[in-house]
Amino acid sequence: MDLSKPTEKQKLVKSLNAFDLFLLGVGAIIGSGIFVLTGVAAAREAGPALSISFVFAGIVCLFTAFSYAEFASVIHSAGSAYTYAYKMIGRFAGWITGWCLILAYLLTGAVVSIGWSAYMVDLLHALGIPFSSKFAHAPSEGGVMNVPAMGIVFLMSLLLSKGAKESAWFNHFIVGLKLLVILLFIFIASRHIDPSNWTPFMPFGWKGVMGGAAFIFFAYLGFDAVSTTAEEAKNPGKDLPLGIIGSLVFCTFLYILVGLMLTGVVSYRMLDVKDPVAFALIQVGEHLAASIVSIGALGGITSALLVNMYGQSRIFFAMSRDRFLPSFLEKLHPKFNTPYRIILGSGFIMALLSGFTPIQTVAELTNVGALTAFIMVSVSVLVMRKKYPELVAPFRAPGMPWTGILSIVSCFFLIAHLNKIVLMAFVGWLFIGFVMYLFYWENPLDKRKRGLRL
Ligand code: ALA
Repeated sequence: MDLSKPTEKQKLVKSLNAFDLFLLGVGAIIGSGIFVLTGVAAAREAGPALSISFVFAGIVCLFTAFSYAEFASVIHSAGSAYTYAYKMIGRFAGWITGWCLILAYLLTGAVVSIGWSAYMVDLLHALGIPFSSKFAHAPSEGGVMNVPAMGIVFLMSLLLSKGAKESAWFNHFIVGLKLLVILLFIFIASRHIDPSNWTPFMPFGWKGVMGGAAFIFFAYLGFDAVSTTAEEAKNPGKDLPLGIIGSLVFCTFLYILVGLMLTGVVSYRMLDVKDPVAFALIQVGEHLAASIVSIGALGGITSALLVNMYGQSRIFFAMSRDRFLPSFLEKLHPKFNTPYRIILGSGFIMALLSGFTPIQTVAELTNVGALTAFIMVSVSVLVMRKKYPELVAPFRAPGMPWTGILSIVSCFFLIAHLNKIVLMAFVGWLFIGFVMYLFYWENPLDKRKRGLRL
């Protein structure tokens, strides 16, 4: 089997180079995780040891990133983990992986847009423009619905429907902006460090550090989105691994620094707020820097949303091409050549989620969906090595099979540290997927039409 053979009758345009892919990765990774969720992770789970949580979650992602990179270098298809599991393990594994990705991507978009809304409302208030908090919160938080979160999802859906290259240029600009504000934060915060804030360093012990890692894992999601651009990359064999691993390692270093600065500037106990990065600067009297950081955070979160939705549309595209999602979705736009029906359709569902659900639970549910997909990717790479020993991948993950095994074990370990109710909700989601597979996708009357397009 030629694994790198382009598979589809509907093809996407090859327009992205290595630098585009690296920036796409950074754009997808840095978002609400670092700008919003770090506060909760420090205050409720890890304390000042947040940076250790970042190290641990980063290592788990790195193990998995090697598997993603190896696959992305040989299977150039928009379906990412879904396609890898399908090709290597089979139809059911492909469907369940895709089903987990649907959950993870839709919820990631929701979390990111809710984070965006928090910074937007802050900014409006700073500018003296009133905005009722009722329209910036979900019903379970005492609000009516989160209007800014829904608005940004609609806006990004329209932008993405216009095409990959334009979106990549927009992404370049905005990624530069967010890197600048993160560096600004690190620089300013480093001048206000009070080492006494780092004592005790692990107020909740190792359990807290690992719980923090399982929660803050969200901040790394996105590096996998690079692999969904395989069909649009000019030189996927070389550039995709560079984009995936490069962006992940780069962001890990930034996160460790931000974690140390944040908990060094103020006591971790004060960080249970929705805008912790700006909040910490305000606490030490750096109001101007706080405003600049807020604006950059808005831009940063916007780009995370954009790349997330971009990756999601490519996975859904691959699934609909294989008839795992309704096939009318796969139609490309006659002028822009984008899967616009998927983009607009999933944007609509994501907007509903972001308007009506609270951020923390959604983030944990996202993590368990993504971790399960990661496990499937690592299992698939081990299967590939066994099934096709003669295959020479342009990028070979180092240390196999141990890297793959470590990825699987460490993902399970993080899942075990997530909230039990969230885990039960996830089991419910898997059950629905299982039932759909049995009673719908396995329908013998209709079966001929479905299956991976090779
Ligand atoms: N990692 C992305 C974020 O933190 C999803 O927003």
